[in-house]
Amino acid sequence: AEKSVDNLRAPIICVLGHVDTGKTKMLDTIRRTNVQDGEAGGITQQIGATQVPRDAIVERCKQVREFRAADVKVPGFLIIDTPGHESFANLRSRGSSLCDFAILVVDLMHGLEQQTLESIKLLVKRHTPFVVALNKIDRLHMYESSPRKDVYVHLGTQANNVKLEFKKRYEEVVVQFAEQGLNVCLSNDKKKMADPDYIPMVPTSAYCGDGIGNLMAFIAEMAQSKYSDRLAFIEELDATVMEVKAIPGLGTTIDVILVNGRLKNNDIIVLSGIDGPIVSQIRDLKMPEPLRELRVKSEYRSFKEIQGAQGVKVLAKGMEKALAGLPLYVVNQADEIDLLQAECEAA
Ligand code: GTP
Ligand code: MG
Ligand code: NA
Repeated sequence: AEKSVDNLRAPIICVLGHVDTGKTKMLDTIRRTNVQDGEAGGITQQIGATQVPRDAIVERCKQVREFRAADVKVPGFLIIDTPGHESFANLRSRGSSLCDFAILVVDLMHGLEQQTLESIKLLVKRHTPFVVALNKIDRLHMYESSPRKDVYVHLGTQANNVKLEFKKRYEEVVVQFAEQGLNVCLSNDKKKMADPDYIPMVPTSAYCGDGIGNLMAFIAEMAQSKYSDRLAFIEELDATVMEVKAIPGLGTTIDVILVNGRLKNNDIIVLSGIDGPIVSQIRDLKMPEPLRELRVKSEYRSFKEIQGAQGVKVLAKGMEKALAGLPLYVVNQADEIDLLQAECEAA
């Protein structure tokens, strides 16, 4: 397939971390929504997907020192939210299995917790590059928030005791990562960042917005400079079923993460099901507006064709028995059906 860095797809970024570290809140701040408050018990129980367009990235990043809007070459981010509760290990595994990068959210007040360690193991095993969000910096005693400033510039203007508490806490996190055999440093430490072994940490407050621009700018820059080859859009279909969901009025639908290639209305699809491979036809493709969450029942819009990377709701007959976490195929020639069914059997 033809590859070109002029035609980058959105990087897929998975947000992982222990329960209540602020993963959903961070996405709410990016989207300017309030999904987290609507969750039962404040606990995420499904995988989510949000498309963050380039304009929204640029707007967030303007505050970041040394940031130039023209440098953002990706068309956006596709951000996958996952649950941190211990009982959803399968969803963390599924979400992290198809992402290009991850944001590992750590509560600065708590350090590395059980599902943080579990998430680190997933990322290391799959060689997924990740950035640590050192979240809840607003909880540093006497911290004054300023979401419109570069977080490092802003931290430099805090009272001395705030700076000392920050240093003490992040150094504890550095030690905890070292115990896992990993080197971490703040993302503005140019000397350490020159060493590819170091994993960057960005101080954030998902609640107040501080540092979110720095985090997004860092990911955009890293994605383009180090991984543009991987992000070159290709036509060959790469799609995975993330969730199987009954939606009132729509029947049982599947939420699909389309990494590369296109899905079109009326495409014949083949996917794995409880009783063996399912062959069906796409009756509709739906997506929420940009900056809206795929897992929230909102006003979806219908599309005739969708190009990766996107999170998309696929409507088709017979999805009640579909299995999540496995690939979705499109039949291009009639004689492919047997082959694709066999692929599903093997999965
Ligand atoms: P799960 O999806 O259930 O694993 O949790 P989560 O990581 O998505 O965390 P969530 O966004 O649900 O936030 C948990 C709690 O922490 C909520 O009460 C948030 O308001 C709060 N919170 C999140 N980020 C911050 C932050 O930066 N500062 C402060 N003070 N509170 C935060
Ligand atoms: Mg959540
Ligand atoms: Na939560």
